[in-house]
Amino acid sequence: MALGKVIFSREDIDRRTAELACEINASIPAGKIHVIITLKGALYFGVDLIRALGRQVTIGFITASSYGDGTESSGEVLLKAKDTGEITARRVLIVEDIIDTGRTLESVVNTIRSRKPASVHSVAFIDKPSRREVAIDADFVGFPVEDVFLVGYGLDYAEAYRELPCIRSFEP
Ligand code: IMP
Ligand code: MG
Repeated sequence: MALGKVIFSREDIDRRTAELACEINASIPAGKIHVIITLKGALYFGVDLIRALGRQVTIGFITASSYGDGTESSGEVLLKAKDTGEITARRVLIVEDIIDTGRTLESVVNTIRSRKPASVHSVAFIDKPSRREVAIDADFVGFPVEDVFLVGYGLDYAEAYRELPCIRSFEP
């Protein structure tokens, strides 16, 4: 496996994040929102998005893992949900890095919904619709992509390459 070409440059990322922030602000009524960042992949996007939203937020985290150290999902999602913050009766925005089979987003949404929020929206920076195995979509999507493994801007391969400023393919 090796780093492939740049798929989204830093400029692409900044521009799309600003657009997403406008879409989200137009859809979620004024007032405080509770942003839940799924760790660790969505950390970079989550922080940039919060800045771009420019509104009052509270922040929580949920840790999801399904990949182990490979490029194929194991199919089993492990969630650690003790740092989500208060959810009941709040307007919640779930921030995900990338949707592949959909299992992670499904588990996260179900966990959040079970705590009786006022509303739940989800945003994923990247979406791979052709890979979906469960019927779920994010309310807001940065970029749809083909079936390609991506690294950079928080996305990792076995914990490596998160630090890349752009998003690149990672190929055999
Ligand atoms: P899903 O549960 O199959 O939808 O997988 C979603 C999770 O797998 C994401 O939150 C990422 O952490 C990880 N993932 C999926 N595709 C990629 C990729 O191309 N690069 C890095 N991580 C990925
Ligand atoms: Mg993730």
